Amino acid sequence: MQVNDKTFELYIAEKEIEESIRKIAQKINEDYQGKEVLFIGVLNGVFMFAGELMKYIDLPCEITFIKVQSYDGMSSSGKVHELIGLTTDIKGKDVIVLEDIVDTGITLGKLNSIISSQSPNSFEIATLLYKPDAFKGEFPPKYVGFSIENKFIVGYGMDYQQKGRNLKDIYKLKE
Ligand code: IMP
Ligand code: MG
Repeated sequence: MQVNDKTFELYIAEKEIEESIRKIAQKINEDYQGKEVLFIGVLNGVFMFAGELMKYIDLPCEITFIKVQSYDGMSSSGKVHELIGLTTDIKGKDVIVLEDIVDTGITLGKLNSIISSQSPNSFEIATLLYKPDAFKGEFPPKYVGFSIENKFIVGYGMDYQQKGRNLKDIYKLKE
């Protein structure tokens, strides 16, 4: 699989991804029984994960999105820019942030400060992918689809130079 100048190989197939997302939804349904949840998706990469997850959420809920950017090519730039801000009032709400992938945790750190400053009732992270070896943050994500090795991946919403987001499976960089 070629994306611009790089070659990728199949890593996680669509069926496995969907099974894992259904398990996350089930866990959230159990943990938040009797509550109302505000999901905040982090654009762009989260669009497929958020779309699939929401189909299996069986709770009164709302979803909104925030757009931030930290990655530049194949590595984190170390800075997080807020490109579309949060417009929903989150005071007193039970918030779950949805991420495509948690890598260094720098994005999460920034989101944590944006969200915590607005006094939600509770705040957790659900991510499809997590790279524990790259993580330098304080609070690891609570709901994780797959913990993966520290490799660059594309597909299922995630990009290389903005390409590859449309792939229905997840691919890793071929070395
Ligand atoms: P962090 O701030 O380093 O945790 O990076 C978070 C963001 O960088 C993710 O939400 C992705 O959008 C992007 N990212 C991190 N790792 C990868 C990867 O392997 N492939 C594509 N995008 C990635
Ligand atoms: Mg992202």
